[in-house]
Amino acid sequence: MKPGFKIAKDTYWVGKIDQREVPFHRLLLTKGTTYNSYLLKTGKPTIIDTVDLEFGREYVEQLAEVIDPLDIQYIVINHTEPDHSGGLAALVSKATKATIVCTELAVSEIQQMYKLQHCNFLVVKDGDQLDIGGKTLLFKETPYLHTAETMITYCIEDKILFPCDIFSTHVAVEHFFADEAGFDIKDDYIGYYQAIIHPHRRYVRTLIEAVKDLEIEMIAPSHGFILRQDVAKYIDLYATLSSETTVGKKATIVYTTIKNNTKKMAHILRDSFLDNNIEVELWDADKAEAADILNSIEAADAVLIGSSTKYADMTGNLESILLQLKTLNLEGKLAVAFGSYGWSGEAIEVVQDYLNGTNMTVQSTSGVIKTTGMTHVEFPIRVRFSPKEEEKTRKIKNAAEFISDLLLSAI
Ligand code: FEO
Repeated sequence: MKPGFKIAKDTYWVGKIDQREVPFHRLLLTKGTTYNSYLLKTGKPTIIDTVDLEFGREYVEQLAEVIDPLDIQYIVINHTEPDHSGGLAALVSKATKATIVCTELAVSEIQQMYKLQHCNFLVVKDGDQLDIGGKTLLFKETPYLHTAETMITYCIEDKILFPCDIFSTHVAVEHFFADEAGFDIKDDYIGYYQAIIHPHRRYVRTLIEAVKDLEIEMIAPSHGFILRQDVAKYIDLYATLSSETTVGKKATIVYTTIKNNTKKMAHILRDSFLDNNIEVELWDADKAEAADILNSIEAADAVLIGSSTKYADMTGNLESILLQLKTLNLEGKLAVAFGSYGWSGEAIEVVQDYLNGTNMTVQSTSGVIKTTGMTHVEFPIRVRFSPKEEEKTRKIKNAAEFISDLLLSAI
């Protein structure tokens, strides 16, 4: 299939089919993939997303057979990961009059990735619209689908959603439309969701809300098949796959505290778990009976243990509890260390060491990055002094939401 394939009125596929077994996020895309770039040939010709970094020059050469790059007015970059924005540097070297349209977060990423500080940028926010001469684009910010700066684009007149990574498939398609594939693409569609999108399922639920009022006749994603039949069915699949599938999960939070800051952290964790339908038992290790705390830990699905740091160590009775954890079979439980500190926060690391000595699955920032690519969720949860400032409270809630998602969505 050559670039220039018409998918709707004045709308063309101008991307790249990659039939190699492409390495991606520690997966091997055994069916290859496509990098779907789209040209809207309107009064102000607009490109929506580009192709992988490796194919930038080829992309622009092929695109030039469909439109003179000097005529391009806008280049919408929904997502900066290089399989979407990788053709941008080659494109703007020819499309010198174009303005790059993206979210605020994306601007500095694009500038630094491709040294494009000299380019014109138009920053769009959730709900903004852009007249491209005969068509109108509506933008919706969709953070973490797939990375923090991501947005999606909707063409109001044509009722086409350009959702970037969302609703994609990693298949080097022979026929762009799913209804012409000659087979049911459901397995590829679900496989893509599970591999790429499911770690971000909390944000999928936000997305479903964001698009529910849009009339969508076609979904033109960044990878694989374009969907134009049973569009609602494909959206519903995401709604189902991202929904909470289990109930009755429990978290036990145990802490010791000096100035009540670690206690406040424990309370923010508790409230956030309750908001996410997780039952919570909260224990001050200096006030409760050790036997009660240990019983609660054994009954919990997630165990969160926090301490203030005093003279580079834990405080109060916590160590006696931690010493006993090794004697228990806690397999299958998630474990998290947390605490407030003033200087270095050694106690939090000591708690983490104790948890690592059990057979619980101890959460770490490294593990989150490796499994989800997310950098806004950090374990152990370390807060300097009071957790009351908004940014610190958000950090604690991010951790609780991450644990809640692990507990509540089993696929
Ligand atoms: Fe298709 Fe987030 O990359």
